[in-house]
Amino acid sequence: MSRARVAVLVSGSGSNLQALIDAARTPDHPAELAVVVSNVSGAFALERARQAGLPTEVVSHRDFSERAVYDAELVRRLRAHAVEWVCLAGFMRLLGPTFLQAFPMRVLNVHPALLPAFPGMHAPRQALEAGVKLTGCTVHFVDEGADTGPIIAQAAVEVLDTDDVEALATRIQAQEHRLYPQALALAVSGRLRLEGRRVLSA
Ligand code: GRF
Repeated sequence: MSRARVAVLVSGSGSNLQALIDAARTPDHPAELAVVVSNVSGAFALERARQAGLPTEVVSHRDFSERAVYDAELVRRLRAHAVEWVCLAGFMRLLGPTFLQAFPMRVLNVHPALLPAFPGMHAPRQALEAGVKLTGCTVHFVDEGADTGPIIAQAAVEVLDTDDVEALATRIQAQEHRLYPQALALAVSGRLRLEGRRVLSA
């Protein structure tokens, strides 16, 4: 079985990257990680990648004045690793059309809320402040908006009376680590199709 070549884009600690690394090591997973790219040279995620023996690239957005040029450089680096699919895993940059058109419907993201509720940077805090009893995580295709693309999979997490932001975020992340590799497997297996905004099983 030839496995889909996936790049993971990161900016931070990389716990989702770790979950993808671990899943891609299992014999039945249909993806292999081809490269890990960060816009932050000190990201701990890069250390995880090195530990796993994966190639790494650092492309700092600070070296580029225009997003399209930055995006084009990212595409160039990914092409050099024969990448077919892209997972954003705590990657703190918005990607524009230059990038997304290079990988149409092949860029995935994980978000710590049940989208479309609580997009943006502080989802667990917003869930607590809104007083919802259920929140969770979402894996979705990336479009040009922030956390707006078609939803592939979601997992619910109960909000407990005792929760603070950290406790809730930790339980959400545990679900992300389970959900993201599964959603990636579905996507790269070609088992998903888009009907309007809905991602359906082919
Ligand atoms: C995750 O919670 C993800 O939902 C969000 O950024 C966080 C990244 O965490 N997009 P990590 O770097 O994977 O640990």
